[in-house]
Formats: sequence, structure tokens, C-alpha cells
Amino acid sequence: MEQRLLGKVAIVTGAGQGIGQGVATRLAREGASVVIADYNAETANATAQEIAQSTGSATLAYSIDISDVTAGQIMVDAVVAKFGHIDILINNAGLSQTKPMLELTPADWDRILNVNQRGMFFVLQSVATQMIRQIPENERPTSTMADVVTIKKSETKTSDIPVRNHGKIVNLSSIAGRRGRPLATHYAASKAAVISITQSAALTLAPYNITVNAVCPGVVPTQMWKDIDADRGRLFGSQPGEAMAAFVNTIPLKRASTPEDIAGPIAFFCSADADYVTGQALNVDGGYEMD
Ligand SMILES: NC(=O)c1ccc[n+]([C@@H]2O[C@H](COP(=O)([O-])OP(=O)(O)OC[C@H]3O[C@@H](n4cnc5c(N)ncnc54)[C@H](O)[C@@H]3O)[C@@H](O)[C@H]2O)c1
Repeated sequence: MEQRLLGKVAIVTGAGQGIGQGVATRLAREGASVVIADYNAETANATAQEIAQSTGSATLAYSIDISDVTAGQIMVDAVVAKFGHIDILINNAGLSQTKPMLELTPADWDRILNVNQRGMFFVLQSVATQMIRQIPENERPTSTMADVVTIKKSETKTSDIPVRNHGKIVNLSSIAGRRGRPLATHYAASKAAVISITQSAALTLAPYNITVNAVCPGVVPTQMWKDIDADRGRLFGSQPGEAMAAFVNTIPLKRASTPEDIAGPIAFFCSADADYVTGQALNVDGGYEMD
């Protein structure tokens, strides 16, 4: 495989299993050193070992609960101590819950939003701050953030913007961030927030040539979807696999996606081919959503 990410250091949150594991494997296969950051230390360790053996890339298993908003900065310090720099963040760790909207409690709301929205934002903030810190003095933008937001288009000096990319951030949203979900209102709200945070971060970090994009997967049969399928079985009496099969039947490409289907577009966002792409949210869903 082409080594597009040779020399890069990538943090992937929630990489102990599922989509995150697939993404970390793909980035390592493209030459990146990968930090397998996960709440579950056991799966993080196993994944880090497996990736190191199968790809030859350097790996670090890191135990983190991203809902602790101080944890992102501590992780940044640990990764910089080991690798010296951070070039890529995949903000993937997430939780879902299937429950009718009228039955949601404040505790349900906080549990999902504290990870998917609040936690992911503060990890992004800590990593972005480190990415800015790493920029050599002569490549720093001369414009301040205030200049960037107030400057008239015609007055923009393209020479102020350094050409070299200084970081790539990819956030995991979902097709649930594109429209409401009566059985996962809090999850859908959190994933819509991920798209909004992606856009705000892209604007904030553009002067530094750090790009921020999101992907919106459809149905990926990970543990998350197994739980959704089981919950729908309990709520509606469907047999195991029935809820997922019904969803897959509505997908134009007529199949669920694999973690590798999601990892490819994410690797593209992390590559130099996407240096001029920022603030985007890409549906990776077999054609289910088209906006
Ligand atoms: N599976 C799908 O169909 C699907 C669809 C759209 C979006 N997504 C999104 O993709 C991402 C990955 O989903 P998945 O299907 O691989 O889920 P998964 O449940 O299989 O894996 C999630 C991983 O995140 C970790 N994690 C959970 N909470 C954490 C926390 N507080 N701190 C650190 N790590 C934590 C878990 O330990 C686990 O390893 C999520 O953000 C999810 O919302 C998934």
C-alpha cells in the first residue's frame, strides 16, 4: 500500500474495536505511527499489539475516558513525550443508546452528549492547540484570528497563509447527524453537533493550515450496531439481525459497510491529496443520504 502517511503520528480515539480499530489499522498500513486511545485498556492493548505486528508501524495503547474533559490534554502530553509530535487526530470514540424520545432522562442525555459532543470537542481543542504549537515560527500566520474573521474578502492576503499542512483532524459524525431519530434523539443531536464543531474548527484552524473534516457512516455492523439491533428486538419484538436487515434494505448499495469502507475516505482526508479540503462532512453510507 502507498505510504502516504510515513512519519506522521495519529491518535485514534475509540480504536480498541469497531470502526476506530479499522481506521487505526489503515493509517498504520499507510505508514503512520498510531495511538490506540480507548476507554477499554484491554482492547486498546490487544489492538496496538496486533497493528504493530501486522504493519510494522509503531503503536501506543493509551487508556482514556474522553468524557473527562481534562483527559485530552494529559493524552497529548503523553503522546508528545513518546513521539515528539501529533499530526493526525481521528475523533472516533462514541456511544449510542436506543430509547424512545419521550422516555429519555437527563442522565441518558448527559451520558451520550458528554462523550459524543463535549468529550470529542475538548480532545479536539487539546490536540489542535498542540498542532499549532508545533508550527515553526517562520510558518506561523501573520494574521490574528480577529483579522481572519473581520477581514474583507478582497483584502485577504493569500501570502499570509502557509502552504504546508500542519495537521489533519477527522471527526466521526453519522447519518444520524443529518436528520432526526425518534429512537436516538440525543445521539442524533450529538452527531449533528459534531458536524457543527467540524465547521467551527475548520474556520478556527484554517489560518494555521490545519484541516478539519467529518465522516458520516451509515450502518457498520460493530458492537454498537449489535446493541442497537438487540435494543430494537426488545422494543419491537424483532429477531436478532432483523432491524439491521431492514435498514440495509433501504441502502442503495444494498449492503452494510465494513470498517474498511469508512477507513478509506478517512485516510484520504488525512493524506496530502486532501490538503485543500476542510470543513466538510462526507456521507459514507452506500448512498443512503445524498445531502
Ligand atoms: N457502527 C455504526 O453503524 C456507526 C454509524 C455511524 C457513526 N458511527 C460512529 O462511529 C464511531 C465508532 O463507532 P463503532 O461502531 O466502532 O462503535 P463501537 O461501540 O464498536 O466502538 C466504540 C469504541 O469507543 C470506545 N469508547 C466509548 N466511550 C469512550 C470514552 N468515553 N472514552 C474513550 N473511548 C470510548 C469504546 O471502548 C469502543 O472501543 C462512533 O463515534 C459512532 O457514533 C458508527
